[in-house]
Amino acid sequence: MAEERVPARVEDIMITSGGQQAIDLSIRTFVDPGDIVLAEGPTYPGAVPCFTTYEAQVIHVPMDGDGLQVDLVEEALDRLAAEGRRPKLLYTIPTFHNPAGVTMSRERRERLVQLAHERELLVVEDNPYGQIRFDGERLPTLYELDAGAGWVIYLSTFSKILAPGVRVGWVAAPQAVLRKMNLGKQAADLCSSTITQRFVIEYMRNHDWREHVARLNVVYRSRRDAMLRALEEELPAEASWTRPGGGLFVWATLPDYIDARDLLAMAIRREVAFVPGAAAFLDGQGRHSMRLNFSYIPEERISEGVRRLGLAVSEMIEIHRAFEGGG
Ligand SMILES: Cc1ncc(COP(=O)(O)O)c(C=O)c1O
Repeated sequence: MAEERVPARVEDIMITSGGQQAIDLSIRTFVDPGDIVLAEGPTYPGAVPCFTTYEAQVIHVPMDGDGLQVDLVEEALDRLAAEGRRPKLLYTIPTFHNPAGVTMSRERRERLVQLAHERELLVVEDNPYGQIRFDGERLPTLYELDAGAGWVIYLSTFSKILAPGVRVGWVAAPQAVLRKMNLGKQAADLCSSTITQRFVIEYMRNHDWREHVARLNVVYRSRRDAMLRALEEELPAEASWTRPGGGLFVWATLPDYIDARDLLAMAIRREVAFVPGAAAFLDGQGRHSMRLNFSYIPEERISEGVRRLGLAVSEMIEIHRAFEGGG
């Protein structure tokens, strides 16, 4: 938390079983069936089952290159207010978004927190990727900008800076919220494994974790660059994609006659997989998009994977042309 310059005391924090449980507990704590939740469109695919389990009605707010369009959050709040409704919370990943690969600008962060204060909007800020940075300056977290006013719940994890297998994450929230979340935590698993927590403590004490993260970022940066180069070479001109300054993902969008799920079937035959965009929406959007991961495999395999993906896309384009009589 200090590294993100987020002021937090031990009593502001609850350890969870990964960031995933922190999302589950925040939704479980606040959302009753039918309650409205605002989320970016696309949102983290792993948050989707949390929203559906607690029967949230999710309204997606679009993003652009500067992240969540905060003016559209305001419009959504106005629209809902006109119907006598309001959202229980906004779930957002401001930094190096999964899956969109974009980062919310400083101006939008400031405006969002101001809006949260003006409209009493609870914001759940999920920040697993803040340290996985390749370019640009660190931006303040929403939790920091909230300055203890209590409108932001902050979540993070050791999954991306140490290892996902340790399943250690955390939430920082006001005391009253933590007390409620703690009830849910007890119902779920009593407490997170103290053995893996001890492992994390020993690691942080005895190793230079900042050095480790710096090394990860060197590796991931060149993998990101390899993926961006390969996309430029292999995807058709009608496709577009994000250029993430950090995190693990590129979000690519294809012409609207290509359904990414059909493309996935073709790509898997060539031993390439991606997450189809529809998995990141609860309202049927995202059918022409895909989430591509660049952190996992070495550069030469990224180039080969994108080459095969490009072949699968060409195949889809040919099928489309054949049926549409375009050639
Ligand atoms: C945005 C986001 N939140 C939460 C998580 C969950 O992380 P963990 O492995 O710590 O449960 C992930 C993992 O991919 C993620 O991308």
